[in-house]
Amino acid sequence: MAVDLSVNCLGLEFQNPVLVASGTFGYGDQYEDIMPIRELGALVTKTITPRMRPGNPPPRVVETDSGMLNTIGLANVGQDEFLREKLPWLVTHRGAARVIVNVAGFAEEEFAEVAAAVGSAPGVDALEVNLGCPNVKAGYIHFGADPQSVRRIVSLVRSQVELPIVAKLSPNVTDIAALAEAAVAAGADAVSLINTLPGMKIDINRRRPVLSQGFGGLSGPAVRPVGVACVYKVYRRLAEAGMSAPIVGIGGIGCGSDALEYILAGASLVQVGTASFVRPRAAAETIEGIAEICDRQGVTAVTELVGAAHRS
Ligand SMILES: Cc1cc2nc3c(=O)[nH]c(=O)nc-3n(C[C@H](O)[C@H](O)[C@H](O)COP(=O)(O)O)c2cc1C
Repeated sequence: MAVDLSVNCLGLEFQNPVLVASGTFGYGDQYEDIMPIRELGALVTKTITPRMRPGNPPPRVVETDSGMLNTIGLANVGQDEFLREKLPWLVTHRGAARVIVNVAGFAEEEFAEVAAAVGSAPGVDALEVNLGCPNVKAGYIHFGADPQSVRRIVSLVRSQVELPIVAKLSPNVTDIAALAEAAVAAGADAVSLINTLPGMKIDINRRRPVLSQGFGGLSGPAVRPVGVACVYKVYRRLAEAGMSAPIVGIGGIGCGSDALEYILAGASLVQVGTASFVRPRAAAETIEGIAEICDRQGVTAVTELVGAAHRS
């Protein structure tokens, strides 16, 4: 029996629920021969900022026992180069996959600028707003740390574009569900969670942190229980508040059973991130794994499972 993997979400049809996470798949072109984007539900681009950013100096990634730490520093080509070089390639090679552009700024005006530029470009299906970015004007507190700031950024982006907006939330807060509520109230069509958690690795011979910036963002299998718990909590809170907004689950997903944990917790879509660095076809394996497990369990459509852990 063929399992129906399609998901209708954000007013869009996704051929399957598996996306690749921002910053872990570049702009898709480097993976073309191994993991073509046309197999995916959607590609989420590396964060785009108004101007090109070289990012932080090396070392900027290091492996840990159960994941990795990165301090890439939002290195990206900038909005003009993205629109000129990267987006046309994506549009030609996407097939039935959706293209979601992740955007951010270091001041509120920068979010508005990049959202307006990218959000009006043909071929972009939705924007994912990276709220984990530091606000340089407010003293490097990240935008996603405070519901007021989440509300302001999402409203600002909403005022610039008609496209669906996904607000990407950071787990480094006391109550992620309050931020999800703020984002949806301000006009986000969906929330995606989680971004990385702060971590550090110390070189015991050199007696100093390995990464150039000391701290880095932890991702990979280590963060999966955190991500699943966040999705579960946000799903419940949005339901209690009578808000219907799909959730995109992210964090440590690399196979079908990982993805299904998130779907059962309440995610409609999932993103594969760090796993692609270890196994470049991890996203395809995740799609196949979801289908196999559904088939084994007699599930005919993956959407039947969204939030099922709250009902049994
Ligand atoms: C090397 C690297 C770069 C990343 N860059 C971005 C980025 O530019 N924008 C963003 O929103 N998230 C970025 N992330 C976070 C991922 O999109 C994802 O939220 C996080 O890694 C958790 O998922 P994972 O455990 O599957 O990797 C990055 C993660 C890694 C590992």
